Amino acid sequence: MNKTKMLKPLMVLAFSQVLMWSCCDKSELDPNAALDHSVDKVQQVLPKLTEYNMYPRCVEDGEKEWHTVGVDDWCSGFWPGVLWYAYEQSGDEKIKEKAELFNAPLKKIAFSPAYDHDIGFQLYCSYGNGYRLTGNPEYKKILLAAADTLATLYNPNVGTIWSWPRKKEYPYNTIIDNMMNLELLFWASKNGGSQKLHDIAVSHAKVTMENIVRPDYSAYHLGSFDDQTGEFLRGVAHQGYKDNSMWARGQTWGIYGFAIAYRESKVEEFLETSIKMTDKFLERLPEDGIPYWDFDAPVTDSTPKDASAAAVAACGMLELYYLVDDDQLKTKYYNASVQLLSLLTTDTYLSKEKNDAILLRSTGHMPKNSEVEVPIVYADYYYMEALLKLKKIQATTK
Ligand code: GLY
Repeated sequence: MNKTKMLKPLMVLAFSQVLMWSCCDKSELDPNAALDHSVDKVQQVLPKLTEYNMYPRCVEDGEKEWHTVGVDDWCSGFWPGVLWYAYEQSGDEKIKEKAELFNAPLKKIAFSPAYDHDIGFQLYCSYGNGYRLTGNPEYKKILLAAADTLATLYNPNVGTIWSWPRKKEYPYNTIIDNMMNLELLFWASKNGGSQKLHDIAVSHAKVTMENIVRPDYSAYHLGSFDDQTGEFLRGVAHQGYKDNSMWARGQTWGIYGFAIAYRESKVEEFLETSIKMTDKFLERLPEDGIPYWDFDAPVTDSTPKDASAAAVAACGMLELYYLVDDDQLKTKYYNASVQLLSLLTTDTYLSKEKNDAILLRSTGHMPKNSEVEVPIVYADYYYMEALLKLKKIQATTK
């Protein structure tokens, strides 16, 4: 579709949503104060974490302290990422030293055979931020190796990365989350890696857009393909409620992932996909403004929320703020993002003294009854990422 045609109805929607969001007082959110609070939290918790190859993942129900996991866990990169963001905000050299210590054991992932697509989360959140903030040449080498390792999972017959080779119940699979791990490939191709890495990322995003994103711009969690012909076989819920439902975090991986894919490739359809996935997300938000774990799950008093989806969506919409040309759309996504972050920065979602995490109430894998409405480290990571993005936007528009 031509871009002007596409944007017209969106502008009408944008205007109505700008009005909708303008009813709420967003001047209350001070990203600097919220970031300082996050840094305080990190400084309080750090002395308890002395095994640098064990990474906070979640706070289990009834507990106060982080449950930690090893290097190979898909969440291992988020804690070093939180530390790099805390260092970025505070300039505290002690936090930087800890970030380096927690980064170090992850190096082996870059130089081992690829286990799954999570190499992107594990290495880009840790070494990617570390390299951005320090320029350490050793980190660059590790990131370039990590991108090459991730690319070994690419199947040219399908045109995607094989997200979870170990999950034999879904023959050749690609998941919406994998959109987030293309950033490592795009980065590597611009920083001394092969052009092929860029091409793989573009192909992966196209095939995901055509098959895993549904015509109504909600997404399956997982798509299964014939690994010889590339034929799309079926879409599956996996961590969602049912196969055709809208799993909240998956929707936001798509929002943010396609925005990044557009930023790096300038393929217009990726921008259109991110915008439409965002609009679907905003249209379907419940009255209190924070998504339940799946938009189609039956809602009762005990239906779990997913703060992590709100944090990822806030990042995605602040990315869109930079990418769209239209001022009303910029305002719409900026305001919607501030609204989500404001809601997360309240006593309903901030942990404060309750436990070691920054945020409460994220949901990991509801169908397995695992990590249901508890603090999860990636919510803290994307919350800080969004606040830093917001702070930068505010600094340039004052
Ligand atoms: N990547 C797995 C998840 O979002 O839970």
